[in-house]
Amino acid sequence: MAEPTVKAADTGSPVVLLEGVTRDFGETVVTRVLKSIDFRLGGGEFTALTGPSGSGKSTLLNLVGLLDRATTGRVCLDGVDTAGLDDTALTRLRGGSIGFVFQFHHLLPAFTALENVMLPGIARQGRPSAALRKKALELLDRVGLSDRLKFKPSALSGGQQQRVAIARALCLNPRLILADEPTGNLDTEASDQVFELLRQINREEHTAFLVVTHDLNIAARCDRIVELVDGRITSERAAAPGGG
Ligand SMILES: Nc1ncnc2c1ncn2[C@@H]1O[C@H](COP(=O)(O)OP(=O)(O)OP(=O)(O)O)[C@@H](O)[C@H]1O
Ligand SMILES: [Mg+2]
Repeated sequence: MAEPTVKAADTGSPVVLLEGVTRDFGETVVTRVLKSIDFRLGGGEFTALTGPSGSGKSTLLNLVGLLDRATTGRVCLDGVDTAGLDDTALTRLRGGSIGFVFQFHHLLPAFTALENVMLPGIARQGRPSAALRKKALELLDRVGLSDRLKFKPSALSGGQQQRVAIARALCLNPRLILADEPTGNLDTEASDQVFELLRQINREEHTAFLVVTHDLNIAARCDRIVELVDGRITSERAAAPGGG
């Protein structure tokens, strides 16, 4: 296979920049779950986030995804410091920049694969359009599900459901995809297919990825592995060259 062309990051600013980020939970007893996190994700970078259960990976992903706010520190997305933004502005920034893929796909059971992929666009535009439908058809083709457009999630395999979720995450052309254990629920073969699809999107669209995974084989196929232990980043290293 031809080596993908590595494009330079299109702006000087990273897609994600965290500086001195902490996150506390609890009122009477306060637990500091994230402890002074500094982290940078460049345009088009594909990074794995690993670490023991309870180390704060999902908490960190929620902060980067603007689903939660840091207790202290700076969270910048696409060069925008999010501290000063109200919830409406956060929602707009999130919708325009970030796609989400979770371990359990969160597809809506009453809707078909095609409708599920169109949902982020409908949420933004208020109604489906011909252009949105065309985009969703292209995305489902891309994830290999052109023959499953009218299937409801319950009639799809776990790997197929996850591929619908990936197509949905791409609906609004995000610069960043956040994935929390995207292959955690799949057998080895489906897991490989889903991971390869994410990597392919990364190569072709230059989409940046931050992927939480417990799977060391998956982590080794990312560009970089960041390890979180007890709320701190304890190591950051390049994965094996040629990974993915
Ligand atoms: N809303 C919350 N309120 C209180 N504590 C929380 C909350 N969310 C997370 N925590 C705590 O923060 C710690 C980190 O949780 P988190 O879900 O980020 O871990 P994780 O690294 O994603 O673990 P896993 O690999 O099991 O998914 C845990 O001890 C958890 O109990
Ligand atoms: Mg988690």
